[in-house]
Amino acid sequence: MRIEVSPTATWADQVAVRLLARLREQPNLTLCLPTGATPRPVYQRVVGGIRAGEASLAGVELFLLDEFGGIPIDDPARCARMIATDLLDHVENGPRRVHVPDVDASDVAAACEAYEDAIAAAGGIDLALLGLGANGHVGMNEPGSAADTYTRAVRLHATTAEHATRSYGASVSPAWGVTMGIGTILEARTLWLLVSGRHKRKVLTRVLRGPIGPEVPASLLRGHDDLVVHADDDAADLRTTVNAGE
Ligand code: PGA
Repeated sequence: MRIEVSPTATWADQVAVRLLARLREQPNLTLCLPTGATPRPVYQRVVGGIRAGEASLAGVELFLLDEFGGIPIDDPARCARMIATDLLDHVENGPRRVHVPDVDASDVAAACEAYEDAIAAAGGIDLALLGLGANGHVGMNEPGSAADTYTRAVRLHATTAEHATRSYGASVSPAWGVTMGIGTILEARTLWLLVSGRHKRKVLTRVLRGPIGPEVPASLLRGHDDLVVHADDDAADLRTTVNAGE
C-alpha cells in the first residue's frame, strides 16, 4: 500500500494529473470508475486535460463500479447519470465501451454474472478508482461484505440511502443497488482509493490502521499488492498515514 497525501486545495488536480498520465501511458486502459462527491472535482480536471489534448478516453473500456436500483432511470442519483454529467458529457470522444451494472434487468442475478463475464472478456480491470463510504463501504459493499464477494445486488444501509438523497439528489431513497464485489475489485491490477474531506478522516484511520475484515470492507483492500490511497490532508491524519505506510 502506498499513501499519497496532497494539500486539500490541489488534491483533485494531483489525482487528475496522475490519471491523465496513466491514460497517455496506456490509452486502451480497462478502467473502473466510481461516481459521487469525491471523484467529481477530479473528473472536472480530467475533462480540462482531455479538452487540452493531454489524453483521451477514446481507447478506454469503462466499467462503472456500481449503480442504484429502484429509482427512476433518469434520476440524478443514478450512477450512469452522474458519470455522464460529471465526465462523459463534457468530452468529445468518450470511451469505446461503457458498461453499467444493469439494475433494470428482469433477471438481475444473471445481469450481475454477465457483468463479471464482461470484465473477464475485457481482460480484467487495469485500474480501479474507488471512493470510501463514511461507514467503510467501497462501491456498495456495505459492512459485512467479504473478500470473496463478486458483482451482485445488495441492500443498502440507511446511511448510504440517505447520502444518495441528500448529496446526489435522489428523488426516492434507494433501498438497493448492484455493485462490483470486493473480490471483483481485488482482481483489478491497480487500485486507487480516493478520500477527501474532514468527514472521512475517522473512517480512513479505521481503514488504514484498524483490523482487516468485512466489518470495514475497505480495509480488505489492504490485501492488494498495488493499492494507492490518494487522500487530501483534510482526510488524512498525517501521523496515522505515515505509520500505516511503513
Ligand atoms: P462520496 O461517496 O464520494 O459521495 O462521499 C463515497 C461512497 O459512499 O462510496
